[in-house]
Amino acid sequence: MSESIKVFVKIRPPIPDENKQSEMQKLSIQVLDNKQFEYQNQEDYMPILRLSRGLYEQKDYSFDNILGQNTTQDQVFNVVCNNLIDDALSGINRTILTYGQTSSGKTYTLFGPSSEPILSGRGDFSQINKTSGLLPRVCYSLFQQIQQQNIQAKIVLSYVQIYKDDVYDLLTQKMGPKLQFQNMQTPTMTKISVTSAQQVLQLITQAVQQRQVAATQMNAQSSRSHVIFQLHISTSNNYQSLLTLVDLAGSERVNRTLSSGERLEEAKKINQSLSCLGKCISALSTHQKHIPYRDCALTKILAESLSGNCRTFLIATVCPLESNFDESNSTLQFAQRCQKVTTKPKINEHMFEQLN
Ligand SMILES: Nc1ncnc2c1ncn2[C@@H]1O[C@H](COP(=O)(O)OP(=O)(O)OP(=O)(O)O)[C@@H](O)[C@H]1O
Ligand SMILES: [Mg+2]
Repeated sequence: MSESIKVFVKIRPPIPDENKQSEMQKLSIQVLDNKQFEYQNQEDYMPILRLSRGLYEQKDYSFDNILGQNTTQDQVFNVVCNNLIDDALSGINRTILTYGQTSSGKTYTLFGPSSEPILSGRGDFSQINKTSGLLPRVCYSLFQQIQQQNIQAKIVLSYVQIYKDDVYDLLTQKMGPKLQFQNMQTPTMTKISVTSAQQVLQLITQAVQQRQVAATQMNAQSSRSHVIFQLHISTSNNYQSLLTLVDLAGSERVNRTLSSGERLEEAKKINQSLSCLGKCISALSTHQKHIPYRDCALTKILAESLSGNCRTFLIATVCPLESNFDESNSTLQFAQRCQKVTTKPKINEHMFEQLN
């Protein structure tokens, strides 16, 4: 079966500093329904600046779902992860990617706020925080469903970051040497067998210290690396699948983030790898013969998710400020191209080896 990448748009709410901005500067996005939104085009609402920059033209976009500013993390989970666990337990590979400019809410959507621990409460699903992101919710529901369906499952975790186009293991005690690619897609990485959501989240919590994060002009906790979280699942009904969650680092205009020194070097590498991802998506959406996966580590690792045996969803994250109009527009253009890309998910079967 062949199917398009599904695209969800998440518009984040203004954060405290932005609340001080005048109404004019808040991006005039109007959500038409859960599938469509447009930039508002009301004469009296548009600042002159926008006119002079030629931004009056109206853009209509249609996506699989629009998650507006007031959407809760729980609602995001219910919309985006509907059927995710069922698929993963029936042998279908699944990937969710977050994509958007710096400070648009990718990490928040996937992990939750950086000020709160990923592992919370007693450690079961009912205790999850209101603000917890998709990743902890996915972990709890996976193990919950395994228990409810009364199946056995072997689950193996891998977790890596791509920093300045080199891949590093996040499951080692401290940042080790960069990983070498064995073949085109998979560098050799640590794989840890896991038996509960708490164990997974404990490992992820430890790894948080190793993820490259730094303050920039636009985000106090800006991700400086892409992270790829994977659960390799095999079940006693003889299915196997790979569940992948990707938190990309955000694109940034260095004249706006005022990055210099190390931050600038990081920003250049982040922009380069996102541009490489953009080229692969453009080539795939126009059915080119050559897809430049080999041009960077990110697309080498994601090749299967972008066009192979995988059901892939993209969450395009958007900032609510008018000053981010160009970046938001470019995110939405990328997202629109993704909708034209098809993957070929299939049911993966294999003989399950009994656990001792
Ligand atoms: N849905 C939301 N509700 C409340 N605050 C949010 C939401 N989404 C994002 N934020 C806040 O917006 C800011 C930027 O979010 P985040 O760090 O997730 O952005 P990002 O896209 O990961 O940026 P970068 O590419 O720099 O890593 C943070 O202060 C975060 O807490
Ligand atoms: Mg981030």
